[in-house]
Amino acid sequence: MTRAPDAVEIAPGTHWIGALDPALREFDIILKTANGTTYNSYCVRGSDGVAIIDTVKAAHADEFFKRLEQVARYDEISVIVLNHLEPDHSGALPELMRRAPQAKLYISAKAQLMLKALVRVANLEYNVVQTGDHVSLGDRTLRFFSTPFLHWPDTQCTLIEEQGILFSGDVFGCHFCDARLFNDKVGDFRFSFEYYYQHIMRPFREYVLEALSLLEPLEPKLIAPAHGPILRDAPQSYMQRYRQLAAPLLHNEAGANTKSLLVFYISSYGNTALMAQAVAEGAETEEGVRVSLYDLQSSGDLPFVDLIEEADGIAFGSPTINGDAVKPVWDLLSSLALIKVSDKLGAAFGSYGWSGEAINMIEDRLRGLKLRVPVKGVRARLIPTEEELGKCRDLGKQLAQHLTGNIERRVISMTDLLTQEQAHA
Ligand code: FEO
Repeated sequence: MTRAPDAVEIAPGTHWIGALDPALREFDIILKTANGTTYNSYCVRGSDGVAIIDTVKAAHADEFFKRLEQVARYDEISVIVLNHLEPDHSGALPELMRRAPQAKLYISAKAQLMLKALVRVANLEYNVVQTGDHVSLGDRTLRFFSTPFLHWPDTQCTLIEEQGILFSGDVFGCHFCDARLFNDKVGDFRFSFEYYYQHIMRPFREYVLEALSLLEPLEPKLIAPAHGPILRDAPQSYMQRYRQLAAPLLHNEAGANTKSLLVFYISSYGNTALMAQAVAEGAETEEGVRVSLYDLQSSGDLPFVDLIEEADGIAFGSPTINGDAVKPVWDLLSSLALIKVSDKLGAAFGSYGWSGEAINMIEDRLRGLKLRVPVKGVRARLIPTEEELGKCRDLGKQLAQHLTGNIERRVISMTDLLTQEQAHA
């Protein structure tokens, strides 16, 4: 169902003037789009002005301008609102500004940087708005709500107060192209709504909850997102679904005062497995830490991603093969882009034959994901000695102590420092 419609009135005075992209099969490299997508743009006519809310990807600008011209003249446009500056919504903006030079542009404070990079004109004029600010179109009022990190720092939503129409940007959107446009007319798009949330919004769960606290009291009668179906049937059920999706998936059964440490390992000859066992044993000696041990050899990543999202610390054990950590470890590490991990502690360990690079590489990756790596990793050549297993127990113990906050502070005396300096002289 992808026959392109003309501009479509979604509520009195407000038209959808976006573009359909049914052939798209991959968005931003990382998202699969089995049903293509839409770039939704809207035209709002008030008694004293016309507003355009968002534009479309540059390649689809002709389609957008054709629909716009069906419902408004360029010289009538007094307001342009960009809820989000990613190019799929701002691609036609420079041309729209050229055709409607009198229109005033409204963006969030964080969007300024992007705007200047997108619209390369001198003395660019625009208005910065934040939650509570509004602009009048006579009998229609556009009110702005800052919803940062859903999913860029710049994102905001815009409400037509008198009609309860919420233009929500990427929030409550999905990649699903169906020319019937409305959620009560299009095919079943639930899988796409969930997939979009998991891949775009999930890493920003705390911001989702903040945004919901701002948007739920508005009780919108219609939600008009920037992608996918327009939500006119039970719009608030989509907010409720976001609240469910943003809730912790797994509850810490060990109690709110217990920290959770997950130790993942994979082992060719059982040596890294021995080290993992020792790390877990060491961590278990610390009160108030629940330790879980998992073999990555025969398990998928997704259940572990859910576990990691709720954990306080994660340790990875990998052998070094051809100068690298092994693929199951990298697969799980790359899946962590789906969740927030920056508040966690990390560690690495592993057995190796010749070079042992895996440990540093894993530590670097953990730091790259903004985890804190408070304890230096442990490497052991082939079969770990008792001393090396002792170091693994220490690693587990210290990591657990960092989690509980019971870490012993090292006191370095001036004599120690002077001795070290002399040794390096
Ligand atoms: Fe649909 Fe974040 O752009």
